[in-house]
Amino acid sequence: MSQNVDHSNSEGEIDTVMVEQRLFPPADEFRAKSQFKSLEEYQQFYDAAVADPIAFWSAQAKEHLHWFEPFTQTLDWNCPNARWFLGGKTNASYNCLDANVDAGLGDKVAIVWEGEPGETRQITYRELQEEVSQFANVLKRLGIHAGDVVSIYMPMTPELAIAMLACARIGAVHSVIFAGFSAEAIADRNNDAGAKLQLTSDGLYRRGKVLPLKETVDQALSKSPTVENCVVLKRVGNETPMTAGRDHWWHELASQESRTCPAEQLDSESPLFILYTSGSTGKPKGIRHTTAGYNLYAKRTFQWVFDHQADDIYWCTADCGWITGHSYVVYGPLSAGATVLMYEGAPNYPAEDRFWEIVEKYRVTVLYTAPTAIRAFIKWGDEHVEKHDLSSLRLLGSVGEGINPQAWMWYHEKIGGGRCPIVDTWWQTETGGIMMSPLPGAIATKPGSCTKPLPGIVPKIVGEDGMEVHRGRGGMLCIDTPWPGMLRGIWGDEQRYQDQYWSKVPGMYLTGDNARQDSDGYYWIMGRIDDVINVSGHRLSTIEVESALVSHPAVAEAAVVGKPDEIKGQAIAAFVTLRGDASEELRKDLKLHVRKEIGALAQPDDIRFTSALPKTRSGKIMRRLLRDIASGKEQSGDTSTLEDYTVLAKLRDDEE
Ligand code: WT7
Repeated sequence: MSQNVDHSNSEGEIDTVMVEQRLFPPADEFRAKSQFKSLEEYQQFYDAAVADPIAFWSAQAKEHLHWFEPFTQTLDWNCPNARWFLGGKTNASYNCLDANVDAGLGDKVAIVWEGEPGETRQITYRELQEEVSQFANVLKRLGIHAGDVVSIYMPMTPELAIAMLACARIGAVHSVIFAGFSAEAIADRNNDAGAKLQLTSDGLYRRGKVLPLKETVDQALSKSPTVENCVVLKRVGNETPMTAGRDHWWHELASQESRTCPAEQLDSESPLFILYTSGSTGKPKGIRHTTAGYNLYAKRTFQWVFDHQADDIYWCTADCGWITGHSYVVYGPLSAGATVLMYEGAPNYPAEDRFWEIVEKYRVTVLYTAPTAIRAFIKWGDEHVEKHDLSSLRLLGSVGEGINPQAWMWYHEKIGGGRCPIVDTWWQTETGGIMMSPLPGAIATKPGSCTKPLPGIVPKIVGEDGMEVHRGRGGMLCIDTPWPGMLRGIWGDEQRYQDQYWSKVPGMYLTGDNARQDSDGYYWIMGRIDDVINVSGHRLSTIEVESALVSHPAVAEAAVVGKPDEIKGQAIAAFVTLRGDASEELRKDLKLHVRKEIGALAQPDDIRFTSALPKTRSGKIMRRLLRDIASGKEQSGDTSTLEDYTVLAKLRDDEE
């Protein structure tokens, strides 16, 4: 990084203060085997898709999905409503299972599972097809039909994927709720969706303890009047209250059903799932995804970005409660006939080397995880990594937040041994699949950049006036043309869909993130629009100041927010967790460090040391709460997505 503040600001543009010059081209050995071997190959493919998106996606869909009946129209686009592959009939469960079994992959392992206590299971594509079919028959027996909503609150066990695929098989709509949410959150989501059936387990293992999931579900169901039945997977065998007539054991119901169930022939646009996302503010929105477009997009982006090879052992550490788990644990990799690793538990149980033990044990080749995890590994220390042989890894991925260059370099060197490309994948629950990412054999990477858009994706960066900003300047990231994986709406609230995503910049999808494009055409995500800080009329992005802080050896994590300042408009407040001890000297040193790295304008006015940062359950820092604390406000708004409530109290205690 070097000092480079461009002070010529026009309407709504954001100053950039970070310049990252390191460039990492893929190694020849990696490139030789990959699907896209050069920037030119990528560019040709990309340009062809932009020149004729209809021809492009039509050819993709014909070749890469199974069609019971072919589609007759590729796209019906009436902004903001898209319908893809009209007239066609397909089934996502068929594409994930039957299509692979028919192609000779019946004996290939589909899911390798490791429970937190250490059990292991391997399930072939044929076995998975049978398990899914059997559970689909259970769903039918309980009166579930196409279009009914099934609420799923389960641990990361194969049965969670089986439940999702069983719904897909019969056209039921799943709504997976991360098994860390409260009873209140489950009930809200069940009521919003009108869920008819609840799936759960007796409990789950987390850091060696049993969490009694069914008890939480019982509280939720007392406030979920639309739910008629509840099916309970026996996972831990703890004492579990069962309500006669409503609650049923999974194994008892399943054992009475046949293991064959033909996949329903579903319209391309029949709903596949709802997934609730809060972002970091307001009432959760049920993001609605449909069958064919989503399935195609998840499959192809999986194959492109992870450069899928038949013998890969692919591990995405996300829980199926998030979109990453939907697209890159279940629908993408299984449609592609991949072997997917699923791990139930915590990364630091029984010790901080659990992930690396798993990589070594199963010879994992592709690892896809989140910056919040990477920062934790850095904090825990290199010795946990060094104990294990990670030589099976060939590709690494990151998702969920921007990855600071410092963390990127650590991931590259310590986990990737300097030889694995890193795919920094930018996307959202709403986009269904990855939108921007390096294609690892074709695009040289830069630490902190998600590099280039995938084929068929046309990003635009616009200012407040809706006009595109100059190359190099930051602005609002929008997407200009529809793509098959895009959300189709917000469940039960079409007005909110229109308002939130399609009103501010007419005709374009508003992502809610800021970004800039550098002189090589690489994209840099600058954080959420709401997180911009305005210091003396200069709009700065949080991630750049955070990256400067994290590049100091004493810092583990940093979150930067604006607070009101009479003179400057906003002042910069930084919340910092340390690798070692705090001191007044370090505070001064950090301010100077930021000044040196990116300039006086970005120097934090306030640095607060804290033992932890408030995060959502998916690991994103909740800057909204920090803004309130920094400005001395009692925190307002919704905190139901906060992972650890004690963090807020701790932060207040840490105040001087
Ligand atoms: C938001 C979407 C995408 C699946 C998991 C999160 C941020 C996500 C990146 C990245 C910078 C990123 C954005 C985005 N984000 N990936 N690689 N670099 N920021 O899904 O909960 O819907 O969150 O996460 O702000 O808008 P989500």
